[in-house]
Amino acid sequence: MTTFASESPNTGEAANADEPSSLISTLPGDYYTDPAIFALEQERVFETMWFCAVRAADLTKPGSFRTVQVGRESVIVSRARDDSVKAFLNVCRHRGARLCTDESGEVKRAFQCPYHAWTYGLDGRLIAAPNLTSMPDIDRTEYGLSRVHVREWLGYVWVCLADTPPSFEEQVMGDVIDRLGDIESIDNYAVADLGLGRRITYDVKANWKLIIENFMECYHCATIHPELTEVLPEFADGYAAQYYVGHGAVFGEQAKGFTVDGSEGFDRIPSVSAEQDRRYYAITVRPQVFVNLVPDHVILHRMFPLAHDRTVVECDWLYLPHVVGSGMDVDRSVELFHRVNQQDFDACERTQPGMSSRVYRKGGVLVPSEHHIGAFHAWLRERIGRLPVG
Ligand code: FES
Ligand code: FE
Repeated sequence: MTTFASESPNTGEAANADEPSSLISTLPGDYYTDPAIFALEQERVFETMWFCAVRAADLTKPGSFRTVQVGRESVIVSRARDDSVKAFLNVCRHRGARLCTDESGEVKRAFQCPYHAWTYGLDGRLIAAPNLTSMPDIDRTEYGLSRVHVREWLGYVWVCLADTPPSFEEQVMGDVIDRLGDIESIDNYAVADLGLGRRITYDVKANWKLIIENFMECYHCATIHPELTEVLPEFADGYAAQYYVGHGAVFGEQAKGFTVDGSEGFDRIPSVSAEQDRRYYAITVRPQVFVNLVPDHVILHRMFPLAHDRTVVECDWLYLPHVVGSGMDVDRSVELFHRVNQQDFDACERTQPGMSSRVYRKGGVLVPSEHHIGAFHAWLRERIGRLPVG
């Protein structure tokens, strides 16, 4: 079925910008190329919403840390002595030096600034500073690291840089409920109890919104995802799983599992329901997470938008502990979505240069099956305070 053709029977091409068009416009090109708009997004999207930062199990023991970019800030996410997870701005309170320059690592008891050796405990308190004792009554609690709100869910640490974070239930879980109908449907996958089978990091030369928009539609699936449409034949029709709230895309009869060649996968996650078996669900959790659920594993993408034209995507393939623990071969399982990722990110990189073209000054158009991208654009415009003119 070609929904586009039914709307534009003659050419199937985008209408000339000067002619009236029944198709909804996308965002104008400068939303993908203008550093000033990206700065607005950093401030009003990534620094104010809950942001999925780190897989909690990566912080294996007290002192383990990871640094991540959240909006304009570098954030240290680390495990404290009492096993809780804490997050701090990666900035020394003395004269502003970056405390940790490594992406991940481990400190023994404290974070020490490499500049003048101010030392912070794993709870962020200032515990030592050379010669500070000679200073009159300095209140050390006042000079601790700047704390960032944290929340753990699905085995990931979500951080929020806002002074008063939005409701996690509304912002994060709300998007999942919108897609699946209820929260139990994702609980069934016991995501927090799964083990990390593979992680692949993609450095994508494209604006973060191109990646979200791509993930929100399956109009492209028939063109660029031959392996995926083999396993999920309904995607060959250009429908995204997102349309079927609470339904999920059904595996093709030939597919034994969600693998690159349709061969057998692994044991079904025990609490996955019979209704969820042999189905694929895809969820976009704004602003930067994609979750894919299949009966034997979960694929979770975290995006780190670094510039208007660069986004790093960390993708985790999560399996039942015995699959990871016994060293079973997950290659065919991982390969399917790794190819999908490569195909998708190639498409995004192919699109990014077009955003600077004069042709795209007013944007492109959305076909009817992409209407939820229009809803994403409306949300984004409102969020950053740039409403359409006229
Ligand atoms: Fe960190 Fe001086 S800037 S101790
Ligand atoms: Fe895709």
